Amino acid sequence: MMKRHSIVTLPGDGIGKIVLNEALRVLDSAGFRADYHHGDIGWEFWCREGNPLPDRTIELLKKHRTALFGAITSKPNDEAKAELDISLRDKGFVYSSPIVGLRQKFNLDICVRPCRSYKGNPLNFIRRGRGNTIEEPLVDVVIFRQNTECLYSGVEWTAPPEQVYKAFMTHPKFSENYGQVPIDELSISTRIFTRKATERIIRAAFDYAEKNGYKSVTVCEKPNVIRETSGLMWKLTKEIQKKSYPGILLFNTNIDAQMMWLTKNPEDYGVIVAGNMFGDIASDAFAGLIGGLGFACSAQYSEDGVAVFEPTHGSAPKYSGFSPSIVNPVAMIESACMMLDYLNEKDLSSRIRKAIAAVIKEGRVCTYDMMKMTGRQDVVEKGAASTTMMTDAIIAKLKNS
Ligand code: NAI
Ligand code: MG
Repeated sequence: MMKRHSIVTLPGDGIGKIVLNEALRVLDSAGFRADYHHGDIGWEFWCREGNPLPDRTIELLKKHRTALFGAITSKPNDEAKAELDISLRDKGFVYSSPIVGLRQKFNLDICVRPCRSYKGNPLNFIRRGRGNTIEEPLVDVVIFRQNTECLYSGVEWTAPPEQVYKAFMTHPKFSENYGQVPIDELSISTRIFTRKATERIIRAAFDYAEKNGYKSVTVCEKPNVIRETSGLMWKLTKEIQKKSYPGILLFNTNIDAQMMWLTKNPEDYGVIVAGNMFGDIASDAFAGLIGGLGFACSAQYSEDGVAVFEPTHGSAPKYSGFSPSIVNPVAMIESACMMLDYLNEKDLSSRIRKAIAAVIKEGRVCTYDMMKMTGRQDVVEKGAASTTMMTDAIIAKLKNS
């Protein structure tokens, strides 16, 4: 009999709640057996408790280790203050993103974002071929994004304190180019790479390429200009490839050139590895070729076995009150498939992916984004599938498989 798993569900806000529920329906229909443990996260808990990531949620994830996450709402500081419960105001509560919080608390340093086109998806990228031909290259790219360091480390200042300023002044390029700038006109964000985390993301990328039959790994950074951090990644990748993965080809692209080539030959890329910032950019860019936010899934892993699976879209507040809901559940369902792969339930993930592929190929059930409509409540009357209809179509295919 199939193993029974323990999964933490983190619906969050807005459409996060909606799509997570759809993914659970699909998992259930596929025969996945699990005990689900609901975790509170998101804006609601900021407003009510002054903490969008309550300690009880952290404890839950410590205990059960695997989570399915919908999406949360974040708002600027002034709105965060204004919406905080009156009894909590002026008590020193400061809003910070629970997503960044989760990454830091559990050191979820490896982020994987597959971008694979489904045949027949009307949102697939097409390009002009020779003469009057139109080509539709199928994209099969998996991006490995370092998830905790780089420009997201949070080590930054406007008007840096004196010690920091003095330290920067010891660098000849700083003193020469910025030494005359008044301190309160200086903003500095640091780009930090550590050897350990950089090696981990590189190895994760090569491991994945090897296990899944990809011929190459491409490092997408900018080592010719950002010589220390990008340079470290490129240097370590060469060493690791030479020592441990000689059978896998290694390529090097600069992030800017990669974005230019994106639409020229996206079918030529397989596994891509990058630091946090450029990995974020590259994964959004490739996701655009395969249908955008309604299709972009992701996984985040820590070294000690915590894993969080989530669509890359946010809580889409403007659609969260729609009845019926119109958003595309595929990104969330795909994220659940990544979870199944991770839990070694590959028969189930493969059946679900085939069911999604069949629905998309048939082309009869399409959410509003696939029909290139503006997201409004009346899209369902105009022929778009609602969120539930899309999920039902996938479940119907599953039952016939
Ligand atoms: P968003 O991803 O929520 O929505 C942007 C637009 O993308 C939507 O208006 C909609 O047109 C489209 N879209 C998103 N998901 C879709 C789906 N499943 N199907 C069809 N169309 C879809 O990003 P936005 O509007 O910038 O942010 C809204 C809120 O979400 C903010 O509070 C933001 O902080 C938060 N956010 C949370 C994320 C997370 O939880 N991982 C990631 C990004 C944003
Ligand atoms: Mg992003």
